[in-house]
Amino acid sequence: MSHPSDGKRMTVLFSEERIRERVAELGRQIRADLGSDEEITLLCILKGSFIFAADLARAISGPVAVEFLGVQSYGDATQSSGHVQITHDLTNPIEGKHVLLVEDIIDTGLTIAYLVQSLLARSPASLRVCALFEKPTEEQKVRADYVGFQLGDEFVVGYGLDWAQRFRNLPYVAAIETD
Ligand code: PRP
Repeated sequence: MSHPSDGKRMTVLFSEERIRERVAELGRQIRADLGSDEEITLLCILKGSFIFAADLARAISGPVAVEFLGVQSYGDATQSSGHVQITHDLTNPIEGKHVLLVEDIIDTGLTIAYLVQSLLARSPASLRVCALFEKPTEEQKVRADYVGFQLGDEFVVGYGLDWAQRFRNLPYVAAIETD
């Protein structure tokens, strides 16, 4: 499906159904890897992962705690500023917790590298990374333990991901023309 939206051409890449199925698989796999009794602290990285994290939380059975961390490196631009800024810090310690960091997308890998380094310094029992999308580039030093889908060069929006703060509310994920 392809349709114009606010003058921007969009092409749906991942339907609601395809995302739902993949999120369910990820939830089962994560629970199987951690063991049925272990509490998982699901760490939602704002803003982009708020929808993915909400669905993933419900796809993981057993004990799950939820925490939030706000970071920004893109602002309203389509290219990374190269600088990661914490906009909302954790409100509970993660020391001794099994933390699952939930990201919507790993693009240049700058954000995830910064997050892993700073979260490991807070001494979690374990730290795993789950990203709905990954754009594999040679620059990436940190790879996600769980990846929903691999992406190409497209700039994607929807299901939490934005273009200048817009389109996060689309229930599917679409490529958008950015010129
Ligand atoms: C996006 C996304 C990741 C990061 C990935 O956040 O949510 O956190 O960029 O890009 P990178 O791998 O090149 O660092 P953004 O700065 O757009 O903030 P947002 O989540 O509030 O949209």
